[in-house]
Amino acid sequence: MPEMRTQVGIVGAGPAGLMLSHLLHLRGIESVVLESRSRDHVEHRLRAGVLEQGSVDLLCRSGVGERLRREGLRHEGIELRFAGESHRVPMADLTGRAITVYGQQEVVKDLIAARLAAGGSILFEADVVRLDGLDSDSPVVHFRRDGRDEELRCDFVAGCDGFHGVSRGAVPEGVLTTYERAYPFAWLGVLAAAPPAVDELIYANHERGFALYSMRSPEISRLYLQVAPDEDIAAWPDERIWAELRTRLETVPGWSLNEGPILEKSITPMRSFVVEPMRWERLFLAGDAVHIVPPTGAKGMNLALADVALLGDAFAAWYDEGRTDLLDGYSATALRRVWRAQHFSWWMTSMLHRLERDDPYESKLQIATLRYVTTSEAYARSLSENYVGLPEV
Ligand code: APR
Ligand code: PHB
Repeated sequence: MPEMRTQVGIVGAGPAGLMLSHLLHLRGIESVVLESRSRDHVEHRLRAGVLEQGSVDLLCRSGVGERLRREGLRHEGIELRFAGESHRVPMADLTGRAITVYGQQEVVKDLIAARLAAGGSILFEADVVRLDGLDSDSPVVHFRRDGRDEELRCDFVAGCDGFHGVSRGAVPEGVLTTYERAYPFAWLGVLAAAPPAVDELIYANHERGFALYSMRSPEISRLYLQVAPDEDIAAWPDERIWAELRTRLETVPGWSLNEGPILEKSITPMRSFVVEPMRWERLFLAGDAVHIVPPTGAKGMNLALADVALLGDAFAAWYDEGRTDLLDGYSATALRRVWRAQHFSWWMTSMLHRLERDDPYESKLQIATLRYVTTSEAYARSLSENYVGLPEV
């Protein structure tokens, strides 16, 4: 059976796995990334698109921010719409920081290009089936490629294979504790060839459900609607989508959406999920493999990048100086940021969605919270500092 060897075996070529491989390369540490899907698939998978200031800084500082600087859309505020009102939250004025809208698949493309240009090893269509020897000093990643079984032997394994990956399942029973919350709704997301009608994102609380106006470029809009968790996409022809978006977003006199052909549409379930600890022996878990947030706080990609920034430093301390303190502290340090983002994402979700059918008390609380956050500078700053990303948590 063919066997390869590397220092850090990385499962998954999402933002977490690719960024880790890139950061390790900058520190002179070798890695191999194993990805079950094709390069084309991961480069075109439509996902979220908000980068915190800290994520932008990390990408730029590590030399993969050139296109992001050119094409990323810097946003200094967001709009909150509710009860027929619209209010801007001036995030940059309140925090000195901003966010950048840049699609996750663009980050993935930039990282793949950087790794391949540096001679890095990413094996696509390599499906990891099992991890072995995680409690030895020479773990083995078993994968299937071109119908053959292969092995990758390494010093450490980084499980960056998302919520449906195999890494988390390699930890023996009883070690991990799971914390989760399911929400009684999903998001229907569309990508439309329509110039955004506004420069900033609009988060709308409407009696028919939440809606979000976002964008990808001066020509492309990205929009979302709260729908039932078991909603059938076939029940949403384009005209119904636009009608519902108009109802939920055109709540301010004189404001209207720009419409255009819908290029893609899909439904994403919403959940909050954390697994602790994020490490077992020589397996280090990062990104969606160990935590999921509902997208309302725009934190998913940022958490994945923050995890692997810690891992990059921790592996460098081990390989350069034989230090284990950062590897040992990884889970506790990462989880502080993870739980801050869990709370913020849950809070934004609870404030903006229609939670239960006919719960007028809940709706009144939402409006009271939205009024407070759009009139109190202290509360608006709290929202803003979480949204743009807290530098230290
Ligand atoms: N073998 C190899 N690769 C696998 C396997 C496997 N058994 N299982 C999953 N993968 C791959 C997936 O195909 C995917 O490309 O792991 C990768 C995980 O990437 P992401 O799901 O993008 O997760 P992550 O890198 O943690 O990034 C988190 O993604 O879902 C969004 O909102 C989330 O923005 C956040 C980001
Ligand atoms: C997006 O543009 O895809 C997006 C923006 C903000 C969110 C979630 C998704 O909260």
